[in-house]
Amino acid sequence: MHQPGITDLIQDSLPPQAVKGALDEYASFHAGTVETRKTNYTRMVNDYYDLVTDFYEFGWGQSFHFAPRHRGEKFDASIARHEFFLASVLGLRPGMNVLDVGCGVGGPLRAIARFSGAHIAGVNNNAYQIKRAKEHTEHAGLTGLCEYFKADFMQLPVAAGTYDAVYAIEATCHAPDKLKLFTELHRVMKPGTHFAGYEWCLTDRYDPKSADHRAIKKGIEEGDALPDIWTMPDVVDALTGAGFEMVDSRDLAPESDPETPWYLPIAGKWSIAGFRHTEAGRWLTNQAVRVMEFARLSPKGGTAVSTMLNAGATALVRGGQTGIFTPMFFFHVRKPA
Ligand SMILES: C[S@@+](CC[C@H](N)C(=O)[O-])C[C@H]1O[C@@H](n2cnc3c(N)ncnc32)[C@H](O)[C@@H]1O
Repeated sequence: MHQPGITDLIQDSLPPQAVKGALDEYASFHAGTVETRKTNYTRMVNDYYDLVTDFYEFGWGQSFHFAPRHRGEKFDASIARHEFFLASVLGLRPGMNVLDVGCGVGGPLRAIARFSGAHIAGVNNNAYQIKRAKEHTEHAGLTGLCEYFKADFMQLPVAAGTYDAVYAIEATCHAPDKLKLFTELHRVMKPGTHFAGYEWCLTDRYDPKSADHRAIKKGIEEGDALPDIWTMPDVVDALTGAGFEMVDSRDLAPESDPETPWYLPIAGKWSIAGFRHTEAGRWLTNQAVRVMEFARLSPKGGTAVSTMLNAGATALVRGGQTGIFTPMFFFHVRKPA
């Protein structure tokens, strides 16, 4: 399977009889508290990605992140620009040894390796995604430049001072403890090197007293396997607390053209090019999976996964429309020399 089709969803990532169990376990973590999700983060995040990875690839592509979008810019171009921006900020070039933290199926990793010529290792704790990443890399003829290893980014099996640069794209949002994660990344970097990334954050428009805001936050956590969502100043504090010096940070969401906000691809607007990730496209996918599940052509639970993703997408769109949430808090820090 190079690109999953509608009949391939969750066929390889889990045995059919395990789908319902993963769904129930995932739901139980979200029925609990932030502490429940932090304690069980490995199971929660792996249940989630075992269930949704094929849906992501089917509906979104190989890069599992959002991007700000300029006037007239195509979706794919915005995704690539958002990736190359990090490569440019970090000054990636041939000969550098780079870490991609939470690399998904390696879409950004391959694009950045090709763009910069740097050698990039992706860490990911999801075995199915690592398998997919390796298949895509082989297919792309990039095995010399790109590699992957399965590990928890909270405790990397890597010697201190290994990397010349580190980046993380919409992955550190899954960490149970950001201070601990950033301290671990600081450890594996060479002195004087740089770390940059995009973090999912609440903005200063978030009002914890608003029931609507709290419901949006919970919807994003449930739809996207997050233990919690932090504010931007809290992320900056965790970075500096881990020993980094701030070089730059800002929310990139306002840099989108007002006509093409980051959440447009998952909002209601009709688009032929990106039909599968629009509201109508997701509805159609949901109906198709429902029919296949009924006809026993897809595993029991596929419809529930699609429904969960649609609810998460709705919460993300509401988070974007209200301006209380951003998936693109950009930070760039340096480990002191
Ligand atoms: C939203 S995806 C982003 C993937 C990739 N950065 C991209 O943009 O395509 C988040 C990724 O972080 C990984 N991840 C989450 N928690 C992790 C952990 N504790 N250790 C390693 N990887 C983790 C997930 O498995 C997933 O691949």
